Amino acid sequence: MTEPHGPRVVLIGPMGAGKTTVADLLAQAWGCEVRDTDQDVEAQEGRSVQEIFIELGEPYFRDRERAAVRAAVREHTGVLALGGGAVMDPGTREVLVGQRVVFLNVGLADAAKRVGLGQGRPLLVGNIRSRIKTILTERLPIYAAVASHVVDTDGRPADEVADEVRAWV
Ligand code: S3P
Repeated sequence: MTEPHGPRVVLIGPMGAGKTTVADLLAQAWGCEVRDTDQDVEAQEGRSVQEIFIELGEPYFRDRERAAVRAAVREHTGVLALGGGAVMDPGTREVLVGQRVVFLNVGLADAAKRVGLGQGRPLLVGNIRSRIKTILTERLPIYAAVASHVVDTDGRPADEVADEVRAWV
C-alpha cells in the first residue's frame, strides 16, 4: 500500500474567510504543522506581501506564490493555507488537482467584518467593502470549481468551521 502524501487539507477562500484561524485549529486538533504560502513567499523574498505587491507587482507575487504552492504540496503533510488569490493563477490551480481542497466560503458582511481596515492587504485599498464585493463576485466560481468540499463560515465561530472540515477530511 502506498502512503498518502501531500497536505492533509488545503484551505482556500477569500480574505476574511478565516483560513489562518481555521488552519491553526486544525493543526492543533491533528497535532500537525500549518504551512502558509503567504508566509513562505515573505520568507523567501525577505519582505511583506504588501511590499512585494508595491515594489515588484502582483504578477511577480503570483509567480512566487505558484512556486510556493508547488513546493508546499510536494513537501508538506500538515495543513496548507493559501492566500486568497492563489487560485486565480491557472498554474496554481493545476498544482491543486487531486488534493483535498476545502473552500471556506464567506459572504460580504462577514468578510468585511473580519478584514477590518484591510491592513497589510494590498488589494484592499479605497472602498474596502466594494473591493471585497468585486473580489467575491469574480472569484466565487473559481473557488467552487477548484474545491473538493465547501464549508460555509458566515456567522459561525472558527472552531465550528474547523470541526466541519475535520468531519469531512
Ligand atoms: C490576496 C490575499 C492575501 C495575500 C495577498 C493577495 C488576494 O492572503 O495573498 O494580499 O489576492 O486575495 P489572505 O487571503 O491570507 O489575506
